[in-house]
Amino acid sequence: MPIANKPILFYGLEAIRDAGIVDVGIIVGETHREIEDAVGDGARFGLKVTYIQQDEPLGLAHAVKIAGGYMGKEPFVMYLGDNLITGGISGFVGEFQKNKPNSQILLAKVDNPGEFGVAELSEGRVVRLEEKPEHPKSNLALVGVYMFDAAIFEAVNSIKPSRRDELEITDAIQHLIDTGKDVRAHEVTGWWKDTGKLDDILEANQLILQTFKRDIRGSTDAASRIDGNVVIEEGAVIEGSVLRGPLVVGRGSRVVKSYVGPFTSIYFDVTLQNSEVEHSIILERSRIVNLGARMERSLVGKDVEIVKSATMPVAYRFMVGDASRIEVP
Ligand code: G1P
Repeated sequence: MPIANKPILFYGLEAIRDAGIVDVGIIVGETHREIEDAVGDGARFGLKVTYIQQDEPLGLAHAVKIAGGYMGKEPFVMYLGDNLITGGISGFVGEFQKNKPNSQILLAKVDNPGEFGVAELSEGRVVRLEEKPEHPKSNLALVGVYMFDAAIFEAVNSIKPSRRDELEITDAIQHLIDTGKDVRAHEVTGWWKDTGKLDDILEANQLILQTFKRDIRGSTDAASRIDGNVVIEEGAVIEGSVLRGPLVVGRGSRVVKSYVGPFTSIYFDVTLQNSEVEHSIILERSRIVNLGARMERSLVGKDVEIVKSATMPVAYRFMVGDASRIEVP
């Protein structure tokens, strides 16, 4: 899943690399092929990547468990591949290396703590962690970036599966606390996003596009107007259209007689014709043609077609994938 035309996972890998880490074990499940195709041996990130297969999604602590052989006794960072943190993790990793606690966790204030692991602090120390509590004791969510030394392996082997039948990393860290280990917490002050939901994905997309500078490599004709921080990748074609940044149009995409508004990421080989799009993400090879109204705050998957039907009767016609949501006027 790309954010501002770059897979979310790549932001994490870059943050890890920038923190001076070279050896990365990626825990993969069903989507292992896609991940291996995209990341390869990690050389282009300056990393040495090893893949560790998790046969069933049995939880984050289970992922740590199966990485035990790979890790040996080394301290390590666990980075959840769908998390984005502004400013990277170098500072936190530096702190961890200097102070050498058994674990260092990152916390961020959120409005919806019940959807995360939640920390309760007393005099600056973590006393209690709870996974997705019904009645959160604070608004401090556990960020999906954790630092551990080898003490975590005893913890992941001691805990029992949770209500959702997973071995929770939150419970493993609680076990560290309960057995008197040194667990330190840092609050993340910049933005942090767990990109599991549409609104979070769109917000992350907006935050990253806001950092873009104008860079036009594809072709634009005289009838088009390109305002602001617009990135048009190599091989993209813009004809008779209005583009108002920040936005990105990917390689091989065609935007014809259309309007593309702020905070929009158009991935590669997309066609947009006679249509208006704003604050949205459109994935590879999708076609949006003759849309009658402006599309906004939308996520369009790969190889999707949204076209105005030329035939009567006037009716909606959908072929929609699992867990989709469509709003109609
Ligand atoms: C996981 C952790 C949770 C943490 C969150 C951060 O949640 O279990 O404690 O706050 O990642 O992204 P999950 O993605 O499994 O719902």
